[in-house]
Amino acid sequence: MRRLAAELQQRRAGAGLRAFVMAAADIPEMAAMSATAFGEEALSPAKLRFYRERAHALAIGLRREDAIVSYTLVELHRGQRRVYVVETCTRADEQGRGHASWLRARMAGIAYRLGYRTQTTHVRQSNTAAQELNRRAGMVLVRAIDEYYDDGETGLYLARPLTDADDDS
Ligand SMILES: CC(C)(COP(=O)(O)OP(=O)(O)OC[C@H]1O[C@@H](n2cnc3c(N)ncnc32)[C@H](O)[C@@H]1OP(=O)(O)O)[C@@H](O)C(=O)NCCC(=O)NCCS
Repeated sequence: MRRLAAELQQRRAGAGLRAFVMAAADIPEMAAMSATAFGEEALSPAKLRFYRERAHALAIGLRREDAIVSYTLVELHRGQRRVYVVETCTRADEQGRGHASWLRARMAGIAYRLGYRTQTTHVRQSNTAAQELNRRAGMVLVRAIDEYYDDGETGLYLARPLTDADDDS
């Protein structure tokens, strides 16, 4: 993980931006961003601690000076060689600058190099920004699942293979 963090820090992100791998100290800020974006469905500090300490998962992000501007978190399903994108989030005043796309591309590269061969996620039918982000990341609709979310909204299940074209090393 330390090597991954060091490699990611070497990557050229946009001007003034630094990439990082989620550490314990990042959890309160990420949880606050998640709460702002997702309300009741946000990733709580406890859930982020679980992902960091006990689950097979990985979160990477971008910082501008000391503030986190964007992050993406995936579950690593080793047996299926599949990564599941749990959440991608960019601060409202930093959206539309390519941060989430950059992070998703780096994550796809990392996952491919670790041996994962499929990437999946769910998005809300009403979340057009997330659908566009995923479309640009090459994800395609596998099926729509009625009442996937607690409030009854349909969830779109998206997937794509990870290939050597994702290897950005
Ligand atoms: C979805 C989200 C993560 C995109 O982050 P971002 O850093 O703005 O994404 P990018 O700048 O890389 O843009 C990716 C594509 O998404 C689309 N997009 C970005 N913001 C958008 C918006 N507000 N409305 C519609 N489409 C949008 C654009 O088409 C963009 O591609 P383009 O600029 O090349 O046309 C961000 O809007 C967000 O955090 N939303 C709230 C949380 C959320 O819903 N997360 C996704 C579900 S897990």
